[in-house]
Amino acid sequence: MISLLVSFANPVAGFSPEFTVNTWDFASLSLVPCSSGNGFRFPRRSKRERRILMCSDSSSQSWNVPVLSSSEVIERLKQAREGHQFLAMYSSVVNGITTDPAAMVLPLDDHMVHRGHGVFDTATIVNGYLYELDQHLDRIIRSASMAKIPLPFHREDIRRILIQTVSVSGCRDGSLRYWLSAGPGDFLLSPSQCPEPTLYAIVIKTNLTKKPTGVKVVTSSVSIKPPEFATVKSVNYLPNVLSQMEAEAKGAYAGIWVDKDGFIAEGPNMNVAFVVNGGKELVMPRFDNVLSGCTAKRTLALCEQLVSKGMLENVKVMDVTVEDGKKADEMMLIGSGVLIRPVIRWDEEFIGDGKEGPIAKALLDLLLEDMSSGPSSVRVRVPY
Ligand SMILES: Cc1ncc(COP(=O)(O)O)c(C=O)c1O
Repeated sequence: MISLLVSFANPVAGFSPEFTVNTWDFASLSLVPCSSGNGFRFPRRSKRERRILMCSDSSSQSWNVPVLSSSEVIERLKQAREGHQFLAMYSSVVNGITTDPAAMVLPLDDHMVHRGHGVFDTATIVNGYLYELDQHLDRIIRSASMAKIPLPFHREDIRRILIQTVSVSGCRDGSLRYWLSAGPGDFLLSPSQCPEPTLYAIVIKTNLTKKPTGVKVVTSSVSIKPPEFATVKSVNYLPNVLSQMEAEAKGAYAGIWVDKDGFIAEGPNMNVAFVVNGGKELVMPRFDNVLSGCTAKRTLALCEQLVSKGMLENVKVMDVTVEDGKKADEMMLIGSGVLIRPVIRWDEEFIGDGKEGPIAKALLDLLLEDMSSGPSSVRVRVPY
């Protein structure tokens, strides 16, 4: 998540009925630094500042954390964003889009920030088109409803704002990420004093990996989220982060969650699928207890082409045991971040012959083709 360094002093801006989104300007914001977070760090303190802080103690009261003017904060935020890949951000708090990375900030009193009461989603930008925007939009609206977050705007207006944010960014290949939150309030647990739910969106320049090599996965020892939380794409990704860190510490690409009945669930930000029965059947775990992946669902539809070609005989969504998964001919990770990535080893077991399999490769080719030239139901043109 983007970091939360400042609060907006402006009152919540009203939005115009025709949804003209303005760009915002730092001069109108009063900024209060609070903490650092992913991807947005305070500039390094000077050696002198570090020395003074280290030498201070409570008895001498020699506090030397600088008290900054707005323009100094802005200057430091600009430095902190050097080399950034963040091209544009929309915030309903100011009802505008900015392309200044230093202004891409959230209010600290937003319920999403201090209580995790927010949901998010993404869409990949491919060659000037948003891939599966409507499918991801439907999912964030479902997530918001499950998290009891009222929509700040109608679906079509959210869609328009997202497309306009990408348009302003000029980004033709990258990632759009957006959040719906209960909004700013009084820092308490209840959102009853959060009168304005918020929408935030950011466009990030990224590169798609088109030729993913086979990876190793491990069974996650981090507790799986119960279904009522796993099926919502909320900002509460602590188990996912810990699972990812555990996998990386073991030299693996991702951790795989197994549910309480011993069935394979999902990875920390991807679904999984297997090719079984001598390479003729694709099986995917049911979505009841995991996040319903847009890429996984699209992949199931694309599988029909492999059935027509005789590469597959059957495609099933069903419970898959760990034993069956580890004995599969092929295993693959599926998601908008990983696309389709073959798994060649799970814990100590090699999958199939320990090499990338033909079905994962064929599905990745179909997915990439769908992303670059699929039907209008999955590709929304961005008017630049
Ligand atoms: C927990 C989890 N499962 C599955 C997925 C895959 O979903 P999608 O294909 O929509 O990216 C994600 C992606 O965000 C995820 O976070």
